[in-house]
Amino acid sequence: MRRTFDAIVLGAGGAGLMCAAQAGQRGRKVLLIDHADQPGKKILISGGGRCNFTNIHTAPDRYLSNNMHFAKSALGRYAPDDFIALVDRHRIAWHEKTLGQLFCDGSARQIVAMLMEECARGQVRISLGKPIGEVDHADGQFRVRCGGEEMVAPALVIATGGPSIPKMGASGFAYDLARKFGLEIVEPRPALVPLTLGDGDSLFQSLSGVAADVVARCGKSAFREAALFTHKGLSGPAILQISSYWRPGREIGIDFLPSAAENWLRDAKRARPKTHFHTLLGELLPGRLAEALTKRLGLWGELANMPDRTLEKAERQLADWMFRPDGTEGFAKAEVTAGGISTDGLSSRTMEARTVPGLYAIGEAVDVTGWLGGYNFQWAWASGWAAGQML
Ligand code: FDA
Repeated sequence: MRRTFDAIVLGAGGAGLMCAAQAGQRGRKVLLIDHADQPGKKILISGGGRCNFTNIHTAPDRYLSNNMHFAKSALGRYAPDDFIALVDRHRIAWHEKTLGQLFCDGSARQIVAMLMEECARGQVRISLGKPIGEVDHADGQFRVRCGGEEMVAPALVIATGGPSIPKMGASGFAYDLARKFGLEIVEPRPALVPLTLGDGDSLFQSLSGVAADVVARCGKSAFREAALFTHKGLSGPAILQISSYWRPGREIGIDFLPSAAENWLRDAKRARPKTHFHTLLGELLPGRLAEALTKRLGLWGELANMPDRTLEKAERQLADWMFRPDGTEGFAKAEVTAGGISTDGLSSRTMEARTVPGLYAIGEAVDVTGWLGGYNFQWAWASGWAAGQML
């Protein structure tokens, strides 16, 4: 059987749902297809089940991409306030948790239900649970085979995300399809992902479960948030953030005492000479971490017995402790995929492919990756909205 539409959207995640709803409400006949048995699976598990649906500090410099300017247009035209207005229209209660991150008071299910209602308002047809077969393009029409049927439309939207968390149905399908239509792919890599440490850092691996407020740095990028030691290496928000900037072979610097004043160790020696170094550190850091750092620094004993130069050096080391991760926990644990469909081949205003009229790419499938904290959903909504105005 052959069915015709104005647009076919592949992928019913945040970006695809937003795009389909927009186009449908503009009077277009839209088909939304997903191989998963329910829409918005990543929305459902996001934000610990409460969906951190946007960030009020959204700005283009909080996104990674080979083209730092690409996200500006969509993010500027569909801002956090627009999504908040939608959430408010659906009477979904929300709160700001920290750092501008907005979460549902209730459940992420409310966001999926809201997007499904928006799709219903636009009379979007939805096909779930069937794998997408052959996709081709001829005479200005895209043909998609799915579940023994052939769907035809003059517009096709790639919204199938990236390969992070494959057990949830994530795949590299977007890249295969984009390549087929001549679009370039920026090497995909796991981002917002825990980092692993080799055997050389076994002292720190023994700290599994210990967390501390730190500044994590890589090159010029730095994030002050919690870091968590795991049995494989390092995790926690500060590490997930910096992981997006990390590349194999590079070092990560950790400031374990971001609030400490300059010369605090020397001053402590003057004020409390009988205090042991590890006791002092233990007042500022979790005990196990204080012990491990003291061991690495080899500074056992009273501050009074430590030369000022030694304390100054220790202060510098504690403010910029270098780790060389040997890898990441990979796509299986990555919250997002960095890289993806190159923005070079897309219009930043419409998300349409420059060389294939009618072909669009949105959301995580594209080489635009946000910081942790609601930025990635904001990109999904904004890019989906931008394409949805054009179909
Ligand atoms: P998304 O991956 O959501 O959707 C793609 C859709 O395409 C899926 O429904 C999938 O089934 C479908 N698909 C894939 N391959 C297919 C194929 N071959 N055929 C048919 N369909 C196919 N971000 C944020 O801003 N705030 C947060 O709180 C969180 N929390 C969070 C937690 C966890 C555990 C993860 C893994 C991720 C987050 N994120 C997040 C990131 C956020 O989930 C992500 O950026 C968006 O879901 C991306 O939306 P997309 O619609 O682009 O892709």
